[in-house]
Amino acid sequence: MKRTWAILAAFGATLLLHTATASPQNSPPAPTFYHDVLPILQKHCQNCHRPGEMAMPLVTFDQATAHAKAIAESVNTRRMPPWLADANFGHFSNDPSLSPAEINTLTAWAARGAPAGDSRSAPPALHWARGWNISSPDAVLEMPRAVPLAPEGDIDYTYEIVPTHFNEDRWVQMAELRPSSREHVHHAVVYIRPPGSKWLRSAPVGTPFTTENLADERGRRDTHWTDSDILIVYAPGSSPEMWPSGMAKFIPAGSDLVIQMHYMAMGHTATDRTSIGVVFAKEAPGQRVLTLQLTNDHFVIPPRDSDYRVEARGSLPNDATLLQFFPHMHWRGKKFEYNLIHLDGRIEPLLKVRWDFEWQLSYELAKPLPLKAGTVLQAVAWYDNSGSNPHNPDPNQEVRWGEQTYDEMMVGFFDVAVAADLDKWKYFMRGNNSAAPAQ
Ligand code: HEC
Repeated sequence: MKRTWAILAAFGATLLLHTATASPQNSPPAPTFYHDVLPILQKHCQNCHRPGEMAMPLVTFDQATAHAKAIAESVNTRRMPPWLADANFGHFSNDPSLSPAEINTLTAWAARGAPAGDSRSAPPALHWARGWNISSPDAVLEMPRAVPLAPEGDIDYTYEIVPTHFNEDRWVQMAELRPSSREHVHHAVVYIRPPGSKWLRSAPVGTPFTTENLADERGRRDTHWTDSDILIVYAPGSSPEMWPSGMAKFIPAGSDLVIQMHYMAMGHTATDRTSIGVVFAKEAPGQRVLTLQLTNDHFVIPPRDSDYRVEARGSLPNDATLLQFFPHMHWRGKKFEYNLIHLDGRIEPLLKVRWDFEWQLSYELAKPLPLKAGTVLQAVAWYDNSGSNPHNPDPNQEVRWGEQTYDEMMVGFFDVAVAADLDKWKYFMRGNNSAAPAQ
């Protein structure tokens, strides 16, 4: 017993001695770039901040030190990394937010002169698949023809049908869309058109077209409605799709991808040739991922209303596991939320986001949520049509659903996993829970 005390005492003394010598001015040593800052940049920033990506590179010491003050400021105000979910509701596996300790490290580093430190203490450089944020794609499907973009005016939604040339069925684990001219793209939706589908059959393949270019009534109508599954939705700031293991998107052999592009004129002529990279699942998954949506296209937002509420709700026809959310609105968007409505009327919030047109993110549930057939999901959007919304192009307009950004939209996309042999049609037929095992 006596002996233990002695050791403890000695240990205590060394501790004291250690603190006394290590920091004579009573403050911890300054964090350094290589030892403390680079690991944070790698983990939270370089997916966007590296050469060839959307923002200035923060990879080398020179690049980071030149922006040290801005880095500290952007993380302190939580403008970077971009994330708009209210932290009180839900946990999301793609939440890139920094911990308070990480914010302190970046702030202290900038405040103490942004020192380099010893390059031997650097973590190994990250290896990115060149040009992609998913791992090296198994197939890259590129628009056969580039889309010419006018310098001014509205650009109608532009479509291009890209044959996959897949001669066997494919399960897709990851997918990423890359415009060649990112600044022009307001959003893109990629649909999977299986060989049996009649959708847009009169439209040309491998060349861009708009609704107006289609001669027949049926084709023109088809551009506005489809029940085809969606492979991926893209908008500024959105991340690539990486579905949990055992769950994947299905592309039947012989399918085409139909890409719908919403371009914006940027004051100069340009072209865009978008590509889609896909990584195949290593084995057939137990579940198939479907992208569904809660949409309300019947609203009228009164002029100057600063808090106009629009909702959509729907009940799940069959059991499904909820995986992720992707809200979509335009310039007047303010807030968006997804809720579960329980049988007793209780409303359980699943996600609440502050809207920012520049950052249309997806929110992947950290724990996929199994839901029973009949569960009611609700999406609620709020709009600010007042003059105090800096993005509002005209507060005196009554605003309705429309394709251009000065019109509005209300779409709550969400991904669910269902039995592997259910497509959208079968999923929407009630009572399809006991589906045959995956083929
Ligand atoms: C999802 C992509 C993305 C991530 C992740 C990201 N950034 Fe950014 N960042 C951008 C883009 C795009 C800009 C360009 C400026 C703009 O349009 O706001 C930017 C701008 C900046 C700027 C300069 C302008 C400003 O807002 O101060 C700084 C500094 C910055 N980012 C730091 C960071 C740091 C530090 C991290 C990680 C902790 C990070 N960013 C993570 C996309 C990202």
